[in-house]
Amino acid sequence: MAQATIYIDTNRIVSAISPLLFSGFAEHMGRCIYEGIYDPASPHADEHGLRRDVLAALRDLNLRAIRYPGGNFLSGYRWEDGIGPKDQRPCRRDLAWQSIETNQFGTDEFMHFCRELNAQPMLSVNMGTGSIQDAANLVEYCNGPAGTAYADLRARNGHADPYGVKYWCVGNEMDGPWQIGHLEAEEYGRKALEAAKMMRWHDPSIETVLCGSSNPSMPTYPEWDRTALEIAWEHVDYHSMHYYAENEHNDTASYLALSANFEDFVDTLAGVLRYVKAKKRSKHDVYLSWDEWNVWYKDRSGQGNWTEAPHLSEEVYNLEDALVVAQWMNVFLRKSDVLKIACLAQIVNVISPITTTRDGILKHPTFYPIMLFSRMASGNALDVAVKAPLYATREFGDMPILDVASSHNVETGTNAVFIVNRNQSDYVTVDLCWQALTPTRVTSAYQIAGTDPKAVNSFDDPENVVAHPIKVQNVTDGSVTLQLPPLSFTAIEVAF
Ligand code: AHR
Repeated sequence: MAQATIYIDTNRIVSAISPLLFSGFAEHMGRCIYEGIYDPASPHADEHGLRRDVLAALRDLNLRAIRYPGGNFLSGYRWEDGIGPKDQRPCRRDLAWQSIETNQFGTDEFMHFCRELNAQPMLSVNMGTGSIQDAANLVEYCNGPAGTAYADLRARNGHADPYGVKYWCVGNEMDGPWQIGHLEAEEYGRKALEAAKMMRWHDPSIETVLCGSSNPSMPTYPEWDRTALEIAWEHVDYHSMHYYAENEHNDTASYLALSANFEDFVDTLAGVLRYVKAKKRSKHDVYLSWDEWNVWYKDRSGQGNWTEAPHLSEEVYNLEDALVVAQWMNVFLRKSDVLKIACLAQIVNVISPITTTRDGILKHPTFYPIMLFSRMASGNALDVAVKAPLYATREFGDMPILDVASSHNVETGTNAVFIVNRNQSDYVTVDLCWQALTPTRVTSAYQIAGTDPKAVNSFDDPENVVAHPIKVQNVTDGSVTLQLPPLSFTAIEVAF
């Protein structure tokens, strides 16, 4: 049996963990909004048409912010279509997903949804067909005090008090030729700068997110990022990253080592941020917002054939996907000095850990690591030292069999350790050794594991792959020994 040691020192702090690393993304795409979040025809709908069962599952995920309304949809969206009396809202053709958009759910319904979840709204403004004036008007509609046209329109729509939306994305994937109104980096940088200026003049307390590269394989990456940042630097607070993971060649060993790519992506963009800050002799800091991340390769459908709420990209996640998601979230902690926001794309039905039917709901294996991180990781991220055997991968050469992150919450006196065992056949004996503070007891431990990397949940067998509480030996002489099954993710919490 393989043997590994994890050294944990509560003095070795990477950074305070931003709670916004546990956020989500909801787009008008497929059945995310309609038949997902909002489904008045469902027996589970509340008086506002929101699915109670979906709200409950999302509350379990403890998401801190929700990015909305897109995505590619954003770049053709007229936000004014989605406010006011529902029977007067226009039906439109959504060119991004070739679907029919009824506009029955819009900005005010989204604010209500966020309040139900106790999550912050993170609104995006259209930089494709939208003007900088439209972007500024939306800030006035959401955040303006009564007395001017758009703020008064909000009040007439039943919302007297400003919403105080703090986080604003300035466009979506504007580097992509597929994007409605795609722009070159300089054109986008200038438009984003002017939009952000107007938006901040309406409300100086907002924080803005600049579009970065749509993924690291874009031919313009990372030059796009440098160019746009150099232009807009002083008026933006975050730079966005998007990435969808794939196991298209069915190479599970390499797939389970994808954290190497995730870290590389962050490191490159962190370097670009440092370069631009130095070049501009700026005192201002810009951080990273990984505002679209997930596994996405089994169902890439994106053509709605001009129907309402078509079934698009309803990816079915399996155990190996859950292990990739878990190490992705490990990377969030390990890179928490520069990474401050991360939004799971998406939160219901479309590339989501949750699938609905009109009267049912299913949680995929990826649901569980997301829930465990968002509930257990808090306080400071720690720089753990890991001694573990290596295994061979085609993509990344030799990689450690374990992927690990840890958090320490000084206020609650707890320390969480998150461990992925990438080994497909062997148990690993792991000693957790604390080097500064010594814990007194194990307070909780959960595990998701299985022998088949392709194992899934279904409406017939919804609990085939779930996280179970596990029994572990208590702390002895400042350490805990775990036997980690192959293909597993373990989250353990100790108290000092
Ligand atoms: O999340 C699905 C799509 O992926 C988004 O609309 C777009 O931003 C990205 O390419």
